[in-house]
Amino acid sequence: MHILKVENLVKRFGGLAAVNGVSFEVKKGEILALIGPNGAGKTTCFNMIAGYMPPTEGRVSFNGKDVTGQKPYTLNAQGLARTFQVVKPLAKLSVFDNVMVACLSKSRNTKEAREKARVMLDRTNLAAMQDTLAGSLSIGNLKRLEVARALATQPTLLLMDEPMGGLTPAEVDKAIELIHEINRDGVSIVIIEHIMKAVMAVAHSIVVLQNGEPIARGKPEDVVKDEQVIKAYLGEGYAANR
Ligand SMILES: Nc1ncnc2c1ncn2[C@@H]1O[C@H](COP(=O)(O)OP(=O)(O)OP(=O)(O)O)[C@@H](O)[C@H]1O
Ligand SMILES: [Mg+2]
Repeated sequence: MHILKVENLVKRFGGLAAVNGVSFEVKKGEILALIGPNGAGKTTCFNMIAGYMPPTEGRVSFNGKDVTGQKPYTLNAQGLARTFQVVKPLAKLSVFDNVMVACLSKSRNTKEAREKARVMLDRTNLAAMQDTLAGSLSIGNLKRLEVARALATQPTLLLMDEPMGGLTPAEVDKAIELIHEINRDGVSIVIIEHIMKAVMAVAHSIVVLQNGEPIARGKPEDVVKDEQVIKAYLGEGYAANR
């Protein structure tokens, strides 16, 4: 059973086809990576899947139901959450309150939300910083807060847009671990990421975009050997060093 199916997604901005005929499916429990050069259309795909902008053409199905054009809060209520490439914390609230706000969406009362927020903060290693203002966190901690806020809405599908951008190598290793944990709990994941070490460590399958168009899809070990993918994105150096 597929948790997510996108069919022939197209997004045009004036004369630019930012996404042009993208189709893929995500099986329940799968981690799929969406990769490709800057400007390839990856974030635009997320924006259409998560309801931030309607597709010009094409269809999005979530849990077997056509959800094309539905709004983010409606999709979130059905179990679809995302993190943003450019993180968007409530800067003037504490780390705890940022997560608490997200927990309230799925809790019956504030006591329950508070308990859930504690669990999420432990999970994402932010408990020690719970009283810090979100606006003063380092990029590594902000990325973790972004994940905590998304998880607080109890998703079954999590879209992660460059969760490792700007992290130190040690933080990248921790983020890889966190993604494995989230997935082990039964959450399906679509991840956009440029750090190939992380992509190879977590992805069950990969879709590659270039100029809005899919140029390859399949198992990670096959996709990274694809001539077109090496030429368009990975570079000869990547292939030679493996
Ligand atoms: N709201 C918008 N209006 C006009 N053009 C846009 C809009 N959003 C994205 N674009 C353009 O669409 C193309 C794809 O952008 P997108 O952000 O999806 O790329 P990306 O693959 O996520 O790149 P990156 O790896 O740099 O994050 C780019 O040329 C971008 O300038
Ligand atoms: Mg992007």
